[in-house]
Amino acid sequence: MGFIGLCGIFIVMLCLLILSFSWWIFPIQKHKKLKRNGFGGPTPSFPLGNIKEMGKKNISIQSLVASTNLTHDIHSNVFPYFSTWQKSHGKVFVYWLGTEPFLYIAEAEFLKKMSTEVMAKRWGKPSVFRNDRDPMFGSGLVMVEGNDWVRHRRIVAPAFNPLNLKVMANMMVESTNEMIDRWSSQINFGNHEIDVEREIITIAGEIIAKTSFGVEDENAREVFHKLRALQMTLFNTNRYVGVPFGKYFNVKKNLEAKKLGKEIDKLLMSIVEARKNSPKKNSQKDLLGLLLQENNEVGKSIKTFTTREIVDECKTFFFGGHETTALAITWTLLLLATHEDWQNQLREEIKEVVGNNELDITMLAGLKKMKLVMNEVLRLYPPAPNVQRQAREDIQVDNLKVPNGTNMWIDVVAMHHDPELWGKDVNEFKPERFIDDVNGGCNHKMGYLPFGFGGRMCVGRNLTFMEYKIVLTLLLSKFSFKVSPSYIHSPSIMLSLRPIHGLPLLVQPLN
Ligand code: HEM
Repeated sequence: MGFIGLCGIFIVMLCLLILSFSWWIFPIQKHKKLKRNGFGGPTPSFPLGNIKEMGKKNISIQSLVASTNLTHDIHSNVFPYFSTWQKSHGKVFVYWLGTEPFLYIAEAEFLKKMSTEVMAKRWGKPSVFRNDRDPMFGSGLVMVEGNDWVRHRRIVAPAFNPLNLKVMANMMVESTNEMIDRWSSQINFGNHEIDVEREIITIAGEIIAKTSFGVEDENAREVFHKLRALQMTLFNTNRYVGVPFGKYFNVKKNLEAKKLGKEIDKLLMSIVEARKNSPKKNSQKDLLGLLLQENNEVGKSIKTFTTREIVDECKTFFFGGHETTALAITWTLLLLATHEDWQNQLREEIKEVVGNNELDITMLAGLKKMKLVMNEVLRLYPPAPNVQRQAREDIQVDNLKVPNGTNMWIDVVAMHHDPELWGKDVNEFKPERFIDDVNGGCNHKMGYLPFGFGGRMCVGRNLTFMEYKIVLTLLLSKFSFKVSPSYIHSPSIMLSLRPIHGLPLLVQPLN
């Protein structure tokens, strides 16, 4: 065998050695370390970790939940594997996605102790998701860490100040009224059944595209359609996160996502550049306009956003903001359709606050019962069903040490349905639990986390509150809602918490 042949064998051996270290030996070491540090959990297998068990249970729940019996006790249906593992390993344990360990947390006190140890800028976001999420978020606020996160948050947060959001109310009213007109003509043709989930997600997408970068522009319209297509493509590709070579299991979809991602970036780049050079740039008060304005102002004290970073923030608004808000409204319509008393109470409140006047943003604060309902819906059906973090240093929690690099999966659905935190009526729809108590009577302040926690809490909350109130006010003033017999109650995880078979409601115009 010649010298070249020997070199070839040496390189292959070296590659095998590196691979077996990173996929086998290091993960086993991590596993042992976590065990030594006091964390239990289900036994993983190589190379899938616990993914197989998670997949298996997922298939069996489809049939289990396909019943018309409407229960709000959803945790064991939504996350059956976590619910089973909780019984043997408690509310804090380690499970594995491929060769990546995740610390599962459903214990509010543990979370509190851990988060008092870590400042917002020292939190990481799991690197293992970075590759998949890159076409969606790039280096937008959701993904950045450290001083970069501080800089991004400082430029982005002022755009969501309620005063700045005021001008976006008209865009929301306009889109909702268009949807109402569509529904009315469908009802006139005798078809009262409407898939409310699909409709609301569509207008929420339109609203976020308008509020982010205006959609009069033909390019912006195209961005919107491509962003939706990207989301659908990515949903099918991230099943094997953490598994060695996992990204090659879906090569076609991954390439499609990359291609769409590039096209979106190109279109958004051209929109941002055109806006920067536009004489009207200071009068356009959408999120892009506000970002550019803020970017100019902070320019004197901190490093400003590049065009690329602005593009990533616009994508982040779209992916972080439209489906979550739409699902909050969708689940609310389901709960109001099954609780006619609350539906009527909200309608009464709207009459008192808005009367026969045009809906004005200053009226929204008066819709107090609607806020109670929103809080309760976000508790029972949190659109963001988990919060993810990664330790960027060792974290000591009592006698347990969470090692640097540990991924964390905080199970929001579990905590929102935990009778130890909320009491025996935890699975009942009771908006009144939030009267005079922002924590809804939860006995731990870290037990209610619809928007996350600490300094990294959702930056878009105010936009959601406004959109939620505007859309519901307009809908409840025009229609009454009942659940259609064809509805199947099946809350499931598709990144967010969604009714997997949609939400068909019977919609009746009010006299
Ligand atoms: C019902 C609606 C919404 C829900 C349930 C929701 C939920 C969340 C959650 C759970 C987080 C993670 C927080 C953490 O890690 O502690 C988050 C972060 C974030 N959300 Fe939202 N969100 C909603 C609406 C929006 C909207 C409308 C936007 C923007 C248009 C938005 C933009 C963001 C951004 C940029 C972050 C990252 C913040 C950071 O890391 O500093 N969200 N959201």
